[in-house]
Amino acid sequence: MRIGILGGTGPAGRALAARLASVGYEVVVGSRSRYRAMEACDQITAKWPQLRLPITPGDNEAAADCEVVVLATPWDGAATTAQEHVAALAGKVVISMANALVRVGHEFQPLVPPRGSVAAHVQAAVPQCRVVAAFHHLPATELGHLGDPIDSDVLICSDDAEATRIAMEISARIPGVRPLDAGELSNATAIEAFTAVLLQLNVRYKTRVAPKLTGIKWDPRSGPENG
Ligand SMILES: NC(=O)c1ccc[n+]([C@@H]2O[C@H](COP(=O)([O-])OP(=O)(O)OC[C@H]3O[C@@H](n4cnc5c(N)ncnc54)[C@H](OP(=O)(O)O)[C@@H]3O)[C@@H](O)[C@H]2O)c1
Repeated sequence: MRIGILGGTGPAGRALAARLASVGYEVVVGSRSRYRAMEACDQITAKWPQLRLPITPGDNEAAADCEVVVLATPWDGAATTAQEHVAALAGKVVISMANALVRVGHEFQPLVPPRGSVAAHVQAAVPQCRVVAAFHHLPATELGHLGDPIDSDVLICSDDAEATRIAMEISARIPGVRPLDAGELSNATAIEAFTAVLLQLNVRYKTRVAPKLTGIKWDPRSGPENG
């Protein structure tokens, strides 16, 4: 499966590209500038030369041509970026990882985008694609440390069951990650807003937190217990 990342040159997109390539996906790092994508890919491959990561630079158009597409732009560019590639994205699974947040002094505060979440805004802007909300809480630094597993749940929601399944399958390949089906796309509002809480905890406790829920024994690697 080829996965394209729109806005793949930022910390989140680069880390996700490296991680997904490290678990066997072919990844196209997209950008508004192909040269920035080339720089990003050079940085990734220079950091992990022994892994021979299957990463290719491209513009956002090349990334949108992949079978599954991740939106890794800032929140206020996500819907317009998706709209620019409306034809290429038709029918595809589009994973929205953007969080609408603002920093006010030392505090992080969630913003409410049109339709209540970035993911819902993207779905409304490009109704032909199948939007899944995922990866919002994975810190880019840990995501990019390819030698280490990430000890985190990934909350996934969508109005398309097959899109949820595909996003869960991709997430489950990342060592240490447990994907959880968090229901319909309307829940992206809470998932995205919760990121402000996590970032606040990072500031308070001088760390980088990632969420892990108790009470669910299901694990994608060992099969269902109560899931
Ligand atoms: N950083 C994290 O730890 C983390 C974790 C989970 C989720 N997220 C979410 O993932 C998204 C990306 O995070 P990031 O820190 O990597 O963001 P970023 O560095 O601010 O932006 C990522 C890339 O998006 C492109 N971009 C910037 N403004 C744009 C616009 N107006 N329209 C279209 N493309 C634009 C840029 O690439 P080009 O100039 O090359 O096109 C940029 O390198 C954010 O929405 C964030 O909330 C971040």
